[in-house]
Order: sequence, then C-alpha cells, then structure tokens
Amino acid sequence: MKVGYDAATHVFRLDGADISYVLGVNEKGELQNLYWGKRLDAQDPFAAAKSPGGGSGFDPAVNLTPTEFVGWGAGLYAVPNLKVTFPDGNRDLVLHYLSHEIQGDTLRVTLKDIGRDVRVELLYEMNAETGVLARSAKIENHTKLPLTIEEAFAATWNLPSSNDYQLRYLTGRWAAEWKLQEEALHTGKVVLESRRGSTGDEVNPWFAIERGAQPDQDTGDVWFGALGWSGSWQINVEQNAANQVRVTGGFTPFDFAYLLKPEQSLETPKFYGGYSNSGIGGASRLLHRFELGSIVPGGMHRKLRPILYNSWEATGFDVNEAGQETLAEKAASIGVERFVMDDGWFGQRKDDHAGLGDWYVNQQKFPHGLKPLIDKVHSLGMDFGLWVEPEMVNPNSDLYKAHPDWTLNFPGRPRTEGRSQLMLNLARPDVRAYVYGFLDKLLTENDIAFLKWDYNRNWSEPGWSAVPIEQQKEVYVEYVRNLYSILAELRSKHPNVEIESCSGGGARVDLGIMRLTDEVWPSDNTDPFDRLRIQDGFSYAYAPGVMMAWVTDSPNWMNNRSTSLDYRFLSSMQGSLGIGANLSKWSAEDFSTAKKLVAQYKLLRPTIQDGALYRLISPEEGSEFSVTESLSTDGKQAAVFAFLHSSQLGDGDPRIFPRGLEPATKYSIHALVGSLDSRMPERASGEYWMHRGIDVSLRGDFQAMLFTLEREGAK
Ligand code: GLA
Repeated sequence: MKVGYDAATHVFRLDGADISYVLGVNEKGELQNLYWGKRLDAQDPFAAAKSPGGGSGFDPAVNLTPTEFVGWGAGLYAVPNLKVTFPDGNRDLVLHYLSHEIQGDTLRVTLKDIGRDVRVELLYEMNAETGVLARSAKIENHTKLPLTIEEAFAATWNLPSSNDYQLRYLTGRWAAEWKLQEEALHTGKVVLESRRGSTGDEVNPWFAIERGAQPDQDTGDVWFGALGWSGSWQINVEQNAANQVRVTGGFTPFDFAYLLKPEQSLETPKFYGGYSNSGIGGASRLLHRFELGSIVPGGMHRKLRPILYNSWEATGFDVNEAGQETLAEKAASIGVERFVMDDGWFGQRKDDHAGLGDWYVNQQKFPHGLKPLIDKVHSLGMDFGLWVEPEMVNPNSDLYKAHPDWTLNFPGRPRTEGRSQLMLNLARPDVRAYVYGFLDKLLTENDIAFLKWDYNRNWSEPGWSAVPIEQQKEVYVEYVRNLYSILAELRSKHPNVEIESCSGGGARVDLGIMRLTDEVWPSDNTDPFDRLRIQDGFSYAYAPGVMMAWVTDSPNWMNNRSTSLDYRFLSSMQGSLGIGANLSKWSAEDFSTAKKLVAQYKLLRPTIQDGALYRLISPEEGSEFSVTESLSTDGKQAAVFAFLHSSQLGDGDPRIFPRGLEPATKYSIHALVGSLDSRMPERASGEYWMHRGIDVSLRGDFQAMLFTLEREGAK
C-alpha cells in the first residue's frame, strides 16, 4: 500500500482496507478534502480541487471550502485548526500548500503562512488493516520572534453536504459512565469537551455520525473518530447553513496558550477517523480491531487479559498480609490468574484522607514488606498486581509536608481538594523524576506483573508558578506529555509489567492512554444490571478486550440490588473477566459455580476479547432484554449472552437473531448457562440460526443465559 499522488491534478489518495481518503490543493493553494468513505476503484478519477468561491459578501470563500487544516485569518468563521498571536499584534494566519513527502502509507503535507515563516506539517498515517486514518499536525515557528498559539486542533474531518446526519457521543459521570447520546445534526455547533485536565467522564473524546437514522445497527454509512489525548480536549461538530459538516478536534482552546519560540514546534495529539458502511455496529467493530491491532501495547501480539482478582470491594483500605493471603488462596482455587492488591498498602493510609504520595510499604500492615505476599501469590500459580495513584498527594502526607509547591496551585490562593487530595504538577521536572523514581524502584525491588494506575480527581487551580508567566498555561500539554513519557519509560525498563488505566472508573479512557496501558476500568459501578448499559455504551468506542469487568458481591454496594452469581458472572464475562467479591463470605456452592464459569470463560476468552461484537438487543431505554454476540476472528465460534431484567405480564422472550455466520455452513448450538427453548434443533445452517432465529427460555427477574454456536468440523 502506498499513498497515491497525481502531479497533474495535485491530488493525493490514501486507501486502506475498505476506505479511501482523497485530498487536493486548490488553485489558491488551500488543502481541501475531496472524498472520505467507501473504498473506490483505483482508476476512479478525481479532478483537481477547486475553491468554491464566496457565497456572498457575508461568507468569504474560506468558509465554504472543506479545508483539511485552516488558520484563523482571511475571514474564517468556522473553528480554525490554528490561531496565533504574533508579537507585533498580527493575528492573521493563512496557510497554503508548500510541499509534501510520501513514505509508504504515510503522507506529510507542509503548509506555510502566505507571509511569515510559520509552517504546519500535517501527518496522515493510513492503517492498512482497517482503513482508520491517524491525523496530526506539527506547528513550527521559523520566524525570528516567539509567537503564542491560542488554539491548536489536530485535524478537521469533512463530510459531504447533507441534512440528515445523526450524531452519537458518550457522556457520563462517576459510577454512571458511557451513556450513549444520539441526536440529529442541524446548522450550528455541538461542542464535546473536557476542561478537567484529563480525558474526563462527562464526555468521552469519541464521535460517530451516521447518514440518516438507520433503525438497524449493522447497515448505513457511519463516519467516526476518536482523539488520542488524555488531557483537556475539544471536538467541534459544525454544520454550516450550506449543510457542510466539519469535525475539528484537539487541545481545548479554553485556558490554552503555548509560547512557541523561534525554531520550536508543537505537536498536536492524533485524531483518528474511520468509516463503515455496515452501520454503527460495523464502525465499532472496525474501531475495536484498530485498537487491539494497532493501539494497545503489543498490538496483534498482545496477550489476552488474565482473569484477575482484586481485593478493593472485599477489604477496602483494610489490607494486611494475612487477609490478602487468605483471599489469594481462595482466588487461586477458582482459577484466577492474577491477584491484585488495591488501595491501602502504603504510607499511613487508613482511609482516603492520608498517605497518597508516600509510596513506602506500611509497616503495620506488612511488617516484612510485600515479598511474603508476593511469594505466596506466586506459589499459588498467580502473578501479582498492585494499585497505585502516582499523580496525587494528600495534604496529610510526608511528601506534601516536604514539597507543598509540587502541587498544581496559584500561590496565595486556596487549593481545592477532591477526595481529600491535590494534584501533583507532573509538568515539573522534579515531580516527574520523583514519580518515575518511586515507580521504577517499586517494580525493580518487587516481582510485580501489573499496576492498576488510578487517578481520582479532576484539576483545579492549574497554576505552574515555577515558569515564566507566558508559559504557565503550557501545563496542560507538558503534564500529559510527562505522564506519557513516564509510562513509556517504565514499560521499556520493565517490559513484562502490564498497566490498567483507572480513573475512579472510566474517566481516563482514550486512544492516547491506551497506547501505553493494557486494559481500562470502565466504571466503579459493579452492579451487574447497571453494567449492561455501561458496557454497551463503552463498546461503541472501545473494545471489550480491554474492558475490565468484576464479579462482585450481592446485594451490590451501589444500589442494594440482589442478583444470582450466574447473572453476575455472565454480565462480567462480556468483557475481560475479573473477580472483586469478598471470597471469605462465599459458600461451597458459590465456589463451585465460580470455578465452572471461570473455566468456561477461559475457553471463550479469545472469542470474547478478540472477536467481533454484535449488539443484538440493546439494554438502553428501559429495555427488558439485552443480548450481545461475540464472533471469533476465525468465525468458528459465536458466544451469545442474553439477559432479562424482569418478566412482564407473561410476555415471552424475543427471538434472538445472531449475525455474521456463514449461511451455508452448519453450526451446533450449546447452552452453557440457562436453557434454550426445548424445540430448538441441536444443529442447523448459519442461514437457519440467522433468519429463523433462536428461542430461549428466560423467566423471572435478573435472568441470564449463555450459549454458543460452534461451526461444524471446527475445534
Ligand atoms: C478508585 C477506583 C477503585 C478503587 C479505589 C481505591 O475509586 O476506581 O476501583 O481502586 O479508587 O481507593
């Protein structure tokens, strides 16, 4: 695969998988989009780009041009990709094509201001396997004086003019993350944003736009995108009065300023975009494949997620050697592969009011250090993981007493606490060195296979008084860069250590952090019924293969809801299975149920974690049912999870229609948990299962079943 370029028309073309992306330089020198969508024939012609001309005196031409990257200047009213102030007061910036470079599937186009030597190198990287395009920009100051960047967006995605677009995005809050929002686009602007210093859970940096409101998950044209950035961000979805749609994303301009000295540059985050003509279902399957194959560490060669046990809901902060060892023995007996000790093991940590920042082992709780526990966990055949929250400090800690200036703050102003903690300013080199240093020491001195990296508050008073005033707002960029560099350095020095991104639940999940972590924690809400909706929303943007899901106690601590162990397991088995229950309270029967289901999960693990997800019945909008299907990458196995909230008025169960099977091939059906309708055959064609459908027998409240379809001759 190679980027195509036609010198006669000045048209560039990137093809990947089922997607083509075409752009060109118009007669004015502006770079504009010509096409983004389904893969076209290699011979299909594209005429040279042409500026549309102004609509009227009120709309200079630049507003109607589907520009790929545009400076604020020349009468632009749409969101610019770049806005700067020069030291002489000039704020006009008009970027025209200067040069390009093609290397395999990567295109670099350099734009330059019409007068001053400010350049922007646009990077286009086409993913051959999925057609997902990664776009970013490098802004370079080659003038003799510093300039201030006030707005810097990575890229703009242009969609063809249409008046029936539907926008989807994800919103939430603590313990209620991943709510899917759907609305019609009309003239105006939808701003998706985090001003919280990190990705945040109020809105996630992902969008999907469908042409027409398709009733079916797996049909229709869908364009989607996601930002790879774990700091404050913004995505603008604009539809102008001519129904042209532009999606522009990158750093949020709110409270943003970046001083670019002569010969310095600023790189934006990557903004990924893709397209599917198999509906929103096809779009998320494509994005999942891209994430698993090209974003998470190891890509195609990544390890499947081990089944872990985590002590948080069982013990809270009350961890100690004997208690953890007892839990470890019980966890090992049901087939758990990784034992993780959560919060409470360090400093003077008894509750969430003290200890963060003091990363030494608490002597009362672990008089002999962590080694005896780690040895015990290993002797039980599991590896060992540990909770940390490296970016935070409690005012009640040795670290804060020694370095009160290490936190984000404005001198002389109050410091707002969240969960009784303050944020360390990771942009500071001394703080970066401290955080890297203690983590490196912890991993060097102990045989630790896994870190649960937590982050339990948002920013406030984001002051960085150690640098000159005109650079203080750079904290938004430098903080995140240092976070990434710490993660990258730890991973390269300790290549066997895996990391989970947790932020009091799912408040830091994005394609930036996913490049450096192996899994994510979607929500602190572990109620298995609430989780069906949370997991459903999560799956629009992120792969089930990175989504940790624990089986916890009943009744659930969040809402006092009681559910069976089978139900709790099946809800969690839709993602990467973990156990977070208090095993000391389990009955012999619970252990045998768990042992059986853990063994079944291990057999289905590649299908669930790597396979293609089909959302057959959505749990949204008060649905009594929820059904998902995971189809293995080789097509040999489908695992179907079906959940009933509550039988109503004697209504029957809806028929289940699986997808993605080979029509003419025979599949056998196997109920692993719960039962199928007794009239179901044991084997039939893919055609039969997909079109005649499958009847199950779910009655009562909070019922769940799991069945598989196995392709004949396969194993
Ligand atoms: C956050 C996490 C939880 C747990 C606690 C520990 O809330 O999301 O899973 O680790 O912190 O304090």
